[in-house]
Amino acid sequence: MATILDIRPLDLVADFPAIPAGWAYLDTAATAQKPQVVIDAITRAYGTTYATVHRGVYQRSADMTLAYEAARQRVARFIGAKADEIVFVRGATEGINLVAHCWPDKRRVLLSQLEHHSNIVPWQLAGWQIDVCPLTPDGRIDLDAAEAILTPDHAMVAFAHVSNVLGSVLDARRAAELAHRVGAKLLLDGCQAVPRLPVDVQALDCDFYVFSGHKLYGPTGIGVLWGRGDLLDVMPPFMGGGAMIDRVTFERTTYAPPPARFEPGTPHITGALGLHAAIDYVEAIGLEAIHAHETALVKLARDRLSAINSVRLFGPEDSAGIVSFAIEGVHPHDVGTILDEGQVAIRAGHHCAQPLMDVLGVPATARASFGVYNSAADVEALARGVERVTRIFG
Ligand code: ALA
Repeated sequence: MATILDIRPLDLVADFPAIPAGWAYLDTAATAQKPQVVIDAITRAYGTTYATVHRGVYQRSADMTLAYEAARQRVARFIGAKADEIVFVRGATEGINLVAHCWPDKRRVLLSQLEHHSNIVPWQLAGWQIDVCPLTPDGRIDLDAAEAILTPDHAMVAFAHVSNVLGSVLDARRAAELAHRVGAKLLLDGCQAVPRLPVDVQALDCDFYVFSGHKLYGPTGIGVLWGRGDLLDVMPPFMGGGAMIDRVTFERTTYAPPPARFEPGTPHITGALGLHAAIDYVEAIGLEAIHAHETALVKLARDRLSAINSVRLFGPEDSAGIVSFAIEGVHPHDVGTILDEGQVAIRAGHHCAQPLMDVLGVPATARASFGVYNSAADVEALARGVERVTRIFG
C-alpha cells in the first residue's frame, strides 16, 4: 500500500499565487491553477507590448505578430507537429465542433461511452450517424469492441485520449490502426492528456488532436486544434470574417490556407502568449516527472479511499491524475460540500459525461484530480474529509 512517505513533493505550490496554504485544490481536470510565469506573460503582454497581430504596419504590431506566431511554433514543438498545422481555437470544444462541421465526409463517427459532451454533441449537431464503443469492466475504451464495430462506412473515430471522469488512458496507437484500417480518421480529445502525459501526435498516428489551454496551466479562451496538413487543406472554413480570406467581393470569396482559414477575427493574442508560457513551464518540470508524480498521488488516493467502508472507486488503477468515487448513500454534491468545509476542493456531478454516468449506474460521482502543485498532504486531507463524510452519514 502506498503511504504519504512514498511521495516526494514537486514543491511547486509557491509558483501558484491563487493557492493559499492549507487549501487542497483537487479540481485540475476542470481547470488548472495558473503559475506566476503565466500571469506575468499575460500582464506583460497587456501592460507593455500589446498591439494587434497580422494587421499592423507599425513595429509594435510586427513584434506582437512574431510573438503570436512563436506561440504557434511552441505548441507545435510541444506535440510534435508542424506550426502551420496548429489552429488556435477557444478550446477543445471549438476544435471538435470545427472538425465535426467541416470534415467533408460526414457519414458515421465512432465515439465511446466515456466521452465528454463536447465530443458527443458537436457530431449530433453536424448530422453524423453515431456509433458508440463500450468500455471494458475497468473503464477503458474497449478497442476489441471498436474493431468489431468499425466498417468502411465510418469516416471518423473520436475518442478521449484520457477520460475526464475515469482517468483511463487510451491505447491511441491501436485506435489509430483500427480507424485507418477501415479508412476512417482518428480525432483525439487531449484535454486531460496534455497536462499529464508526453504527447507526440506523429507517434500516436492520429489525424486530429484537440486540447484546451486552461487545463494545461494556461489561460482560458485559448485552445488548439491540430490536424494533418493535407486534411486541414480540404476543409472549408468554420466561421467567416477578417483574416481568414484571400480575396473578398460581394459575389465570391476565396479563403486563406490553414491555419489562417480557421482563425477569423482578431485572435486571442494574449491567450496564445500565456499558453506559450504555460508550455514552457510544464516542459521545464518535464511531462514524465509530472506523470510520475500524479501517478503516485492517484495510487495513494486509491489506497486511502478504498480502505474506507462504503467508498466505491471508478476507473482503472493506473488512471492518469484522476480518481472518481462515490460513497454509498451520500450524494456526491454533499460529499463535495463537506470536503469544502475542510478546505478540499473537488468536483462533484456528471462531469459533462451523462452517458458515462448511465453506464456506471450513478447520477454523479465525486472526482479528485491532481496537478503539479498537489502533494501527499492533499490526498490525506481528501481521505480525512471522506472519513468525516462517512461519520456524518454513517
Ligand atoms: N471537462 C472539464 C471537467 O471534466 C470541465 O471538469
